[in-house]
Amino acid sequence: MPSVCWLVPRVTQVMIAKLFYFLLISAVALPTKAEEGCHQLRSTAPFKIALFADLHFGEDAWTHWGPLQDVKSIKVMSSVLDDETPDFVIYLGDVITANNIAIKNASLYWDQAVSPTRARGIPWASVFGNHDDAAFVWPIEWFSSPGIPEIRCRVANSSCSGEEECHFEGTQRLELMKNEIERNTLSYSRYGPKELWPSISNYVLQLLSSDNPKSPVALLYFLDSGGGSYPEIISSAQAEWFRQKALEINPDSRVPEIIFWHIPSRAYKKAAPWFGIHKPCMGSINKERVATQEAEMGIMKLLVERPSAKAIFVGHNHGLDWCCPYEKLWLCFARHTGYGGYGNWDRGARIVEITEQPFSVKSWIRMEDGSVHSEVVLSP
Ligand SMILES: *[C@@H]1O[C@H](CO)[C@@H](O)[C@H](O)[C@H]1NC(C)=O
Ligand SMILES: *[C@@H]1O[C@H](CO)[C@@H](O)[C@H](O)[C@H]1NC(C)=O
Repeated sequence: MPSVCWLVPRVTQVMIAKLFYFLLISAVALPTKAEEGCHQLRSTAPFKIALFADLHFGEDAWTHWGPLQDVKSIKVMSSVLDDETPDFVIYLGDVITANNIAIKNASLYWDQAVSPTRARGIPWASVFGNHDDAAFVWPIEWFSSPGIPEIRCRVANSSCSGEEECHFEGTQRLELMKNEIERNTLSYSRYGPKELWPSISNYVLQLLSSDNPKSPVALLYFLDSGGGSYPEIISSAQAEWFRQKALEINPDSRVPEIIFWHIPSRAYKKAAPWFGIHKPCMGSINKERVATQEAEMGIMKLLVERPSAKAIFVGHNHGLDWCCPYEKLWLCFARHTGYGGYGNWDRGARIVEITEQPFSVKSWIRMEDGSVHSEVVLSP
């Protein structure tokens, strides 16, 4: 599997420049997509990433409030994007609540979730969460007197058997990813190496210095932490893929590495603050226990041993938004961005800012109402 990396001209904040960027992306970046290439980080400005976690589009899609809450999630994303004007967005899993989606093609909801980012011409990448390809769960209320909402069982084409389509199998990870990648030139998501399937969102993107395109500023690793159609886990095969990839593209551990996946690893439990959040941890909500992956199969051991691995970012726990040090790493939660999913904590997004010279990683949380809090320096 070739390493994935290609050039992205940096988005400027001016509308005209955005249009120009759009043309560039389609004229230059798109044809190279299958090849090696690199995200380009302009050295004169920091590279800013917004993390959108746990949007849960499509939740209770058959009710009145389900679709309304998706509209609210679009507002959260729009407000964060307009306040921060990030260079890149990462969809950190649970983009949709597939177990509630009673249509065959869940990509239609996925597509709504990426629409605010796409509309602003901002490139993005995504990883899977445990809800993205979860099997449909029949709501118990469908078996009460109002019954199954009528629109949900579409009459099949008259050319077909005439049976009604009343089974909702959900859309597989691979299909979701294909639909995202094929329809969106701004998407930098990948299917990952076939050997790792059914775990799909395993890939790495290189941020290149605009001064010296030969020298990566940072490596962004994306891993699929499972859940939904298979266990909540990062397998030893994924850990081995990471090990080999790191050996291949960063053998001397010179380039800083930042890691993104959805479900916290068990190490998060060890790093978690007790009750209030005290320094060196930083954050604003610590309202539930860490819900971790089912087992640890080696990825954490590799990461703690790498001086270049700086921080891991996860979603999954809507009631946690802290960053805490763990060995030489930082373990961070994103911030619940969507109105879908459990919990009524105010919505927002974690921002990650990478500066090239001198290298630093800073992070803070931008809320829907525009306020900012919990700024923390994660590196050096
Ligand atoms: C599912 O939806 C996506 C996104 O709108 C679309 O690109 C794709 O063609 C659809 N697939 C099917 C089988 O309808
Ligand atoms: C219905 O049938 C027509 C041809 O008979 C086909 O073009 C179309 O894609 C079908 N639609 C669905 C939803 O299966």
